[in-house]
Amino acid sequence: MDLPRGDEVRREVAGHYGRLARDLLEGGAALIDLGSGQVVLDLGSGGGIDVLLSARRVGPHGKVHGFDMADDMLELARKNQREAGIDNVEFLKGIIEAVPLPDESIDVVI
Ligand SMILES: C[S@@+](CC[C@H](N)C(=O)[O-])C[C@H]1O[C@@H](n2cnc3c(N)ncnc32)[C@H](O)[C@@H]1O
Repeated sequence: MDLPRGDEVRREVAGHYGRLARDLLEGGAALIDLGSGQVVLDLGSGGGIDVLLSARRVGPHGKVHGFDMADDMLELARKNQREAGIDNVEFLKGIIEAVPLPDESIDVVI
């Protein structure tokens, strides 16, 4: 059996980590399967990048709730939402330990 040469292995590993790095740069939500119409909750939504990327993926029939305890993060997230022109998103204030949403109203938690 022919073993791959060292440089081939290095190229393959670099390619793998390159893809992974791109996925991570797009946000953690890039690694999750999301479908049209789903309702998503981001616990600790920060500046809202994962929320906004997820909102595009669930489409106009879906919705994404961003949830954060920090006023400055909520302000930044809402500013990013306005600039992105995305409607199917709502940023809520609170702590992860007490989410003010009804049971079974969420399809995916990120
Ligand atoms: C790393 S950031 C999240 C980044 C975000 N996913 C994005 O796409 O930009 C983590 C956030 O979690 C929030 N956080 C941490 N602990 C929390 C808690 N117990 N309840 C609510 N928010 C919390 C912080 O305020 C911070 O904004």
